[in-house]
Amino acid sequence: MGEPSPAGRFGQFGGRFVPETLVPACEDLEAEFRAAWGDPAFRAELDGILRDYGGRPSPVTECHRLSDRLGVRVLLKREDLNHTGSHKINNVIGQTLLARRMGKTRIVAETGAGQHGVATATACALFGLECKVYMGEVDVARQALNVFRMRLLGAEVEPVVSGSRTLKDAVNEAMRDWVATVETTHYCLGSVMGPHPYPWMVREFQRVIGDEARAQCLAVLGRDPDVVAACVGGGSNAAGIFSGFVGTGAELVGVEPAGGAAIGRGIPGVVHGSKSFLLQDEYGQVLEAHSISAGLDYPGVGPEHAHLASIGRARYEAVTDDEVVAAFQVLSRLEGIIPALEPAHAIAWLLRAAPGIQGRTVLVNLSGRGDKDVAQMMERLG
Ligand SMILES: Cc1ncc(COP(=O)(O)O)c(C=O)c1O
Repeated sequence: MGEPSPAGRFGQFGGRFVPETLVPACEDLEAEFRAAWGDPAFRAELDGILRDYGGRPSPVTECHRLSDRLGVRVLLKREDLNHTGSHKINNVIGQTLLARRMGKTRIVAETGAGQHGVATATACALFGLECKVYMGEVDVARQALNVFRMRLLGAEVEPVVSGSRTLKDAVNEAMRDWVATVETTHYCLGSVMGPHPYPWMVREFQRVIGDEARAQCLAVLGRDPDVVAACVGGGSNAAGIFSGFVGTGAELVGVEPAGGAAIGRGIPGVVHGSKSFLLQDEYGQVLEAHSISAGLDYPGVGPEHAHLASIGRARYEAVTDDEVVAAFQVLSRLEGIIPALEPAHAIAWLLRAAPGIQGRTVLVNLSGRGDKDVAQMMERLG
């Protein structure tokens, strides 16, 4: 998972499909990211904040009871233990530091499950930046706790009432805002999607997950795991952990929701500024995705995942809502860890795949904790 082509392509995917007003903003962002990423002072400040404020490194936990049950040795990379409860903080601290470097005073963001919104509101509070978060009306209802957290942190949360009133529509509104305010505003995109340089930049900010996990696995296992699995919405937590293992012999498995399987059921198209696999009808209209978890309810996927799938380096599987609910309960009861519904997708795949991978070692990225989903599960499970 190296640098994309100068045009921002991973194989045939990626690129920069944006209105003319945003081309200079994307070019400035790319130049600023390139300079910052090569600047030891920037890297040291980022690492320091992630350590002292964010709680890094996150541990790797060996799951003894789950391993005994499945006949598979299971390790979890614990991004759920980060400040604000998910991997999203890694990317947001990086992007807000960049925004400050660029002299921007205002941040806009989109959010589905609310975790990216909470992380963004948190970083804006930390750095004294104005913050506006767009969120689909459906997600505002199912993630009420995170909406309250964002407002408590001083962010303005704007419910989006267009389309399916979920993540894709929130991205549309955030992009529209950015077009109109680009002089003062940075768009803090929450996943490895959007126009170049976002997919590359966000993956680099999430690479810390994979780099840490590889060293931790070598310490615990004395070798690399056989399989590395992660859920895929836009694909940032998966890209982060995959980047630590792409050069090893580990099998890489991305897990999508059955109702939003952009790689499993999508065809190449352009959405939100880049070319990737996308759920669309015969006329190229974007189809609505469905997932029990707001963070995976997205009809597209990051372009680098489309590339990894097309060259056969990563495999993408889909799981149903019912499998996810079962996995949510299994991990809670066997390990005392209540996962977010998003990484419960990766656990659900593991439960299903276990009979075929007996005796092997699997590292799962536990991208976030389930506090935000407890009310939703309470309604479903009674
Ligand atoms: C805990 C958690 N995991 C995963 C995701 C999906 O995003 P990505 O595929 O970019 O990791 C989200 C999105 O909100 C999330 O909150």
